[in-house]
Amino acid sequence: MRFLRILFAGGWLILSSHSGAYAQQKKIGNETPEQKQQRMAWWSNDRFGMFIHWGLYSQAARHEWVKRWERMNDTQYKPYFDMFDPDMYDPKAWAKMAKAAGMKYAVLTTKHHEGFCLFDSKYTDYKATNTRAKRDLVREWVAAFRAEGLKVGFYYSLLDWHHPDYTVDGLHPLQPASEADSDYAKLNKGRDWKKYRQYLRDQITELLTGYGKIDILWLDFSYPNKNGHGKSHDDWGSVELLKMIRKLQPGILVDNRLDLEDYSDGADFATPEQVKPSELQNNYGGLPFETCQTFSGSWGYYRDENSWKTNHELLTLLITSVSKSGNLILNVGPTARGVFDYRAQRALDSIGIWMKWNSKAIYGCKEAPAEFSAPAGTLLTYHPADRRLYVHLMTYPSGGLTLSGYKGKIKYAQFLHDASELKFSPAAEGSNDLLLKLPAQKPNIEVPVIELVL
Ligand code: GLC
Repeated sequence: MRFLRILFAGGWLILSSHSGAYAQQKKIGNETPEQKQQRMAWWSNDRFGMFIHWGLYSQAARHEWVKRWERMNDTQYKPYFDMFDPDMYDPKAWAKMAKAAGMKYAVLTTKHHEGFCLFDSKYTDYKATNTRAKRDLVREWVAAFRAEGLKVGFYYSLLDWHHPDYTVDGLHPLQPASEADSDYAKLNKGRDWKKYRQYLRDQITELLTGYGKIDILWLDFSYPNKNGHGKSHDDWGSVELLKMIRKLQPGILVDNRLDLEDYSDGADFATPEQVKPSELQNNYGGLPFETCQTFSGSWGYYRDENSWKTNHELLTLLITSVSKSGNLILNVGPTARGVFDYRAQRALDSIGIWMKWNSKAIYGCKEAPAEFSAPAGTLLTYHPADRRLYVHLMTYPSGGLTLSGYKGKIKYAQFLHDASELKFSPAAEGSNDLLLKLPAQKPNIEVPVIELVL
């Protein structure tokens, strides 16, 4: 049994419980494994992206689920639409910061659960064009990120707490107090689900036809198990939707939240959300992963949330992901004025400093071959094309490092950041272990990396 848990509204939500997920014979398309590998090659190489959660909730500044958490109706939520005025929005500056941090792609919330569209959709009035922003914020974003050479992705929420035809369910802000079907039915009188399903298709079509080549589509999310008041692949029309997506953008990568575990090609990557590094696995039912993580406890800008991860914790997430052949997408929640606040900037700057000297141990890297075991306090990444093994010193060892069983496998050793030689010798007569000499003082790098030439 495989469970994918996501953290929402302060609790865990089980996304799916299918066994043998994605390993099934059933297929939606007819892509070969080689074609798939080619389609995903850039993503498997680049490893590190930026997530951006931005919407009306940024203005409430107390979590992107605020409408649900505080059970607000549309009237109560309306001030955020009326007031929305991102006067400092400068996606070029965002793109520069992402690039400087070493990120290679970015995914923006074009619409989150609140239903507000940052893009100029012709199927709704609930969009940026009708706010004080007066323009399509997605269009500018795409241009800015592309100009910096970053790949661009769209997050699009399957949920919609504003659309009049989106039926009230167990996660909706208007969820009834009782779980009685009749109470839901009362609230859903007049809501025409078919219209919403068409709206989904229409908007995704707009996004995939109006903005050039889109590299990732990040659809969020399915919840089949909510006491019968959830939504699943049947509700979204996931199979047909995915076919349409692949037709409109044959190269695109799609996440695993359409509830299509029964198909081997129902998703391109798994999305373990906010999991600890120790919980990351290198295989999610046959899918590679991209773990999505926040700097603090919220995706949308949360002014008073102070649990910001340290630079070391963020690097641990990045290095662990790559050490298990996965990706990390790290989230920024810009303020409603359209800027990354100082805490996000500081976090990005620090990652950028590390990446400047150590990105060779990230890009194009993956899990180390099984014959190399990671010494205590280290993580390994491996660059197959260059045949280089990277030992990330998560804690700095005193008195050198023992490399168990490495004898005869290494040609040369150096620190990656300054290419300074590191001498090694057999740990003892006849031993297969090597002892690598390290300077007593830790180099001025948050996580120093040793480069071993095989
Ligand atoms: C969840 C949350 C959401 C966030 C997302 C990112 O499904 O509902 O707020 O956008 O995951 O992974």
